[in-house]
Amino acid sequence: MDFAIKSGSPEKYRGDCVVVGVFESRKLTEAAEALNEASQGYLAGIISHGDMDGRANTTLLLHGIPGIGSKRVLLVGLGKKKEFGEKIFPGVVRAVFNALQQTGAKDAGLYLAELPVRGRDIAWNVLQTVILAGESLYRFDRLKSKPGEHQPSLAKVSICVADKSASVQAETALQQGVATVHGMNVAKDLGNLAPNICTPAYLAEQAAEMAKSYKLKLSVLEEKDMEKLGMGALLAVARGSHQPARLIVLEYRGGKDSEKPVALVGKGVTFDAGGISLKPAAEMDEMKFDMGGAASVFGTLTAVAELKLPINVTGVIPATENLPGGNATKPGDVITSLSGQTVEILNTDAEGRLILCDALAYTERYDPEVVVDVATLTGACVVALGHVVSGLMGNDEPLVQELLQAGEQTHDRAWHLPLFDEYQEQLKSNFADMANIGSRWGGAITAACFLSRFTGKFRWAHLDIAGTAWKSGKEKGATGRPVPLLTQFLINRAKKH
Ligand code: BES
Ligand code: MN
Ligand code: ZN
Repeated sequence: MDFAIKSGSPEKYRGDCVVVGVFESRKLTEAAEALNEASQGYLAGIISHGDMDGRANTTLLLHGIPGIGSKRVLLVGLGKKKEFGEKIFPGVVRAVFNALQQTGAKDAGLYLAELPVRGRDIAWNVLQTVILAGESLYRFDRLKSKPGEHQPSLAKVSICVADKSASVQAETALQQGVATVHGMNVAKDLGNLAPNICTPAYLAEQAAEMAKSYKLKLSVLEEKDMEKLGMGALLAVARGSHQPARLIVLEYRGGKDSEKPVALVGKGVTFDAGGISLKPAAEMDEMKFDMGGAASVFGTLTAVAELKLPINVTGVIPATENLPGGNATKPGDVITSLSGQTVEILNTDAEGRLILCDALAYTERYDPEVVVDVATLTGACVVALGHVVSGLMGNDEPLVQELLQAGEQTHDRAWHLPLFDEYQEQLKSNFADMANIGSRWGGAITAACFLSRFTGKFRWAHLDIAGTAWKSGKEKGATGRPVPLLTQFLINRAKKH
């Protein structure tokens, strides 16, 4: 998919389809009015027949309108003008791309970027439009026997602005949007791949490809390296599987040499059966998405490299399967983590925190400015927050605020949960420094409490994306979240320097 910013009036758009909005009831936007005038009232005539009254998310496709350069006109309902805002805009854009894909149009010119979205600017409209278009046009069919059968014909989208002075702002937002979509697609592809294909070794191979394409520095630890270092927690999870674990480190250096990197640490469990604490069978296939944190780190690094951001970013990805096997870790086993702290593993299904605790301790070596870990960590987070927002915790309030804001800016939101000391008590163990699980209550928080014991040496935040990294049911598939949030977070940081 190709995106571009275009200036000029809609009647002059010479292409397959021009898209303009209509408010309820039957009120033409400026762009629609321009088409109406050029067609000498043709549009108003059709609207007066009652086929398009402007209700939000409705569409009407028209062909061959006299006096207009485009082959087709797509009218989209925007709802009531005074209610139009950021809650309505995404649905409208989705409706547009659904409708466009029912047609044979290869290109489209959208006159939606200048619609007034309260509290937002044109850059927001452009960024959202590109992200929503990317979502709507994404297909994952490489595992079908005939891939490419249902590819949409739409190949070029122009986001049109009449006001030339806004086009610089729009252009910057477009670049961010395109890079974000590429990053999201990288994350989605990795997530959607079958777990017999997307193994820890596969993730390491993908990291090598990325390192080559974007000139990143790559280092990959194998199990024997982890043994030497003493990564007992990560190795404890890997024991039950025949697929050997990896610890992948990708370094992007767009900033000054003297500048400390932002470290992104992503949980890469390529399949989580629970280990000896085996999960129930229903929907277990969805545990292929348990590497969503890792995927979002790959995706974000892709976006950052494409944008050539002047910032240093280090991606750290512990990758393993979590399976029951004759050699698997058992409930009651005590292991020594890289940090030297010992852990009593009471539930082998709480494996994410185990691989992350060693990855976080290892990240110290990269002398990070801040560390953000991203993980499909707890079902409890989904119980607390559903599929709308990611859970966010940390040991540094300004960092938490930065991430919350980046989520707001991109509509890829997170919600701050408390990390009060009282919750730490749940992790007491009679036999080791700590247990790897707490009680039934506040599970997203106790998981973060566990991680906090390995992050004492740096500013740190944790995103629990268990509810947001993928969708279940008919639309089952990875979402690419939180690539928009993380990319915006890094853009904001790069701007500050
Ligand atoms: N990967 C899961 C978390 C998960 C579960 C994400 C369901 C999305 C949907 C994680 O490894 C896990 O199994 N967590 C356990 C922790 C528990 C044993 C303390 C959980 O949430 O049930
Ligand atoms: Mn688990
Ligand atoms: Zn897991």
